Amino acid sequence: MASKVLSAAVIGLDAELVEVEADLLNQLPAMAIVGLPDKAVEESKERVKSAIKNSGIDFPRKKVTINLAPADVKKEGPSYDLPIAVSVLLAMNMVNLPDAWDRIIFIGELALDGLLRPVSGVIAIALAAKAKGITSIYLPKINADEASLIDGIDIYPVVSLHQLITHFNGTEKIAIHERGDVVSFFTNDEESEYDIAYVKGQESVKRCLEIAAAGGHNILMSGPPGSGKTMLAKAMATILPDMTLEESLEVTKIFSIAGEFTRGGFLVTRRPFRSPHHTASGVSLVGGGSWPKPGEISLAHRGVLFLDEFPEFPRNVLENLRQPLEDGIVSISRAQATLQFPAKFILVAAMNPCPCGYLNDTARNCVCTPTQIIKYQKKISGPLLDRIDLHIEVPKVEFDKLTSEKSGETSREVKFRVQGARNIQIKRFMGLGIFTNSEMRAQHLKEFCKVDKDTLDLLKNAVNQMKLSARSYHRILKIARTIADLSNEEYIRLEHISEAIQYRPKME
Ligand SMILES: Nc1ncnc2c1ncn2[C@@H]1O[C@H](COP(=O)(O)OP(=O)(O)OP(=O)(O)O)[C@@H](O)[C@H]1O
Ligand SMILES: [Mg+2]
Repeated sequence: MASKVLSAAVIGLDAELVEVEADLLNQLPAMAIVGLPDKAVEESKERVKSAIKNSGIDFPRKKVTINLAPADVKKEGPSYDLPIAVSVLLAMNMVNLPDAWDRIIFIGELALDGLLRPVSGVIAIALAAKAKGITSIYLPKINADEASLIDGIDIYPVVSLHQLITHFNGTEKIAIHERGDVVSFFTNDEESEYDIAYVKGQESVKRCLEIAAAGGHNILMSGPPGSGKTMLAKAMATILPDMTLEESLEVTKIFSIAGEFTRGGFLVTRRPFRSPHHTASGVSLVGGGSWPKPGEISLAHRGVLFLDEFPEFPRNVLENLRQPLEDGIVSISRAQATLQFPAKFILVAAMNPCPCGYLNDTARNCVCTPTQIIKYQKKISGPLLDRIDLHIEVPKVEFDKLTSEKSGETSREVKFRVQGARNIQIKRFMGLGIFTNSEMRAQHLKEFCKVDKDTLDLLKNAVNQMKLSARSYHRILKIARTIADLSNEEYIRLEHISEAIQYRPKME
């Protein structure tokens, strides 16, 4: 007799329900899986056979056909092991599902001994399942905390196939997983080895990092070797505002789909700080693959993407950043479909001004030829530079400053101001679907970035003299908004605009 149970397939950021049917035919023993499975699903056969045998049940000596429907949704990964096993056991009359079997889904990878292994994308599955009226999910115990972030659905943490069999046969029930208190995870103010106080001098760079952190703006630091660019970028992670629960769930979903939790963890409570190396592949940075997974730029969503040695990244990778930097999403086209992943990150880039690193340095002479310098700087295109709001030079620190005992503000002090400015923004944009000044669109600028006549004149001169693009003009307004928010002022004033203008790249 044919049997049927439900599972789910992750597609991009979302999930869809999948039916898993099993049929036993009186033919030579064999097993076939149909319905667009990938290689990992194909390999399910061996895992399911062993897991059933090791749960104390003889695998049927018949032809077993498994059908995954709908057939046009590609099934990938090992998470179908559990539903396939349950479906086979059901066809063998070895388990009894409740009448409301169509309100239950199963996900999980099986080890040969029948134990369950964690899978990726659980939070996306739980969300989709809830929307489709599913009331219970049976999944690997390690994934239970993550799934229970979505309330209104019963999560059954399963350790082994054998445990699931005894549960359905009524001998020993599995208890529903209790939802933890997620809010308690959000208090994280521990000390960091990258505290901004350890960076001596560089006050104006620190100011820029503060503005970037407060309003979500992109920043490019340029300076000679050893001036502290990498150190400053790492300190940036310690002054970012806390994540809201809403942001945390968004980021958690991306991490879950990228499989970042399969080795532990279930909730992202700190803003991500991703620093991929310039030799990383385009797919790992931007996302993709035959079955698209989020890349580093999506894993940096609501956090920081730090690209050290910026010009060393392959040009096509840098050009791929243009769309996400503008829209906050990355589109990945594949034969089957175009998928989109969110990628709203703060770009923090660091570079030397020229190949030898000492262009404009006061102490050392640059040994690069003009052609070398131009070639190096041209690696980063104009449109990309135009999307970076804060351009700042990081000069060599003077010896006296480096060795002075006086330490600057700590990350905690800076973060306090950043958090204040971010809270103002969250309140300002309530209900508009955005959280930061950097996300403002034209209609928001009109409403929230009003300036008086003098300030407007200054802006007009700057735009004409510096030959700024319309985008640059808007970006200056957004930066000025953040500067005003940092000093808790309702209106953008002349000094805010003039500071914002300073951070635009100087014309050659
Ligand atoms: N402003 C500073 N205050 C304290 N230490 C500093 C400062 N600048 C540099 N250093 C010291 O120098 C080391 C090198 O700095 P860092 O790696 O950040 O330089 P960089 O600008 O990234 O150089 P490169 O261009 O070679 O990548 C740091 O680990 C730190 O020990
Ligand atoms: Mg460096």
